[in-house]
Amino acid sequence: MTESQYFTLCNDVAAEIKKAVSGLIGKPEAGVTLRIGADGTPTEKIDEVAENAALSVLEADGRSMLFVSEELGEKNIGGKPEFTFVLDPVDGTFNAVNNIPFFCVPIAIGKSDLSDIRYGFVKNLVNGDIYSARKGKGAFLNEKQIHVSGLSELSRLSVLSYSHRPHAVLINNHSVRRVRVFGCAGLELCYIASGIFDAFFDMRGMLRITDIAASKLIVEEAGGKITDEKGNSLNTPLDVRKRVNIIASNGITHNKLLELV
Ligand code: IPD
Ligand code: CA
Repeated sequence: MTESQYFTLCNDVAAEIKKAVSGLIGKPEAGVTLRIGADGTPTEKIDEVAENAALSVLEADGRSMLFVSEELGEKNIGGKPEFTFVLDPVDGTFNAVNNIPFFCVPIAIGKSDLSDIRYGFVKNLVNGDIYSARKGKGAFLNEKQIHVSGLSELSRLSVLSYSHRPHAVLINNHSVRRVRVFGCAGLELCYIASGIFDAFFDMRGMLRITDIAASKLIVEEAGGKITDEKGNSLNTPLDVRKRVNIIASNGITHNKLLELV
């Protein structure tokens, strides 16, 4: 598939999700728990509406694929899969349900694990921004190429951090300049790629491959680095039940950040 075919497929799915969930943003009914999803966390109404919207686009597409999605887990569409389509129908469900304007749709196209993602796409469902990356071809925000920051001193870093003690204490304002948490990991990682933030930590053992598959490639193609907390590369299978700890950075600071935790 060409880059523009990947883009069109992802963009059609994200557009259909946006349309389907638009009447639910900020509504209590959006947050009603329907069941426990395949990933082991609650499926809320907005998640199911979004996933069904994606499924309708993919089933009408005609290409065969393995659909991996947070709520339903895995579904084979159209016979022998040409690729794996990894989706988080809504990343930042709490934000969407409570009308906190920071949530997105992350989509990755790959094969079997986090190391072989070939296309990443993240759409900010609030302002319409699209982050994308094709392996080996750079990362983009809308049409403009993006790069990670060039900061090297820990004391100057702006950091996104999901951490409990003792990590939260180590990554606090005494080590770095700013610490923030926005509640939508897929989009927060894109802020590392675009250089607004310098590093991202999630040390809770809670992140799923659907939260990070797309943004991982976007961060790497923007010149950044993303590993587990020991510095190992991420090659987790594309299975929604798996959990990962990650550190993403502008690359220059990666070793210092690993030492910190
Ligand atoms: C959540 C967000 C959040 C992260 C949580 C995820 P969801 O995804 O990505 O930033 O901290 O661990 O569950 O549930 O809204 O898709
Ligand atoms: Ca989700």
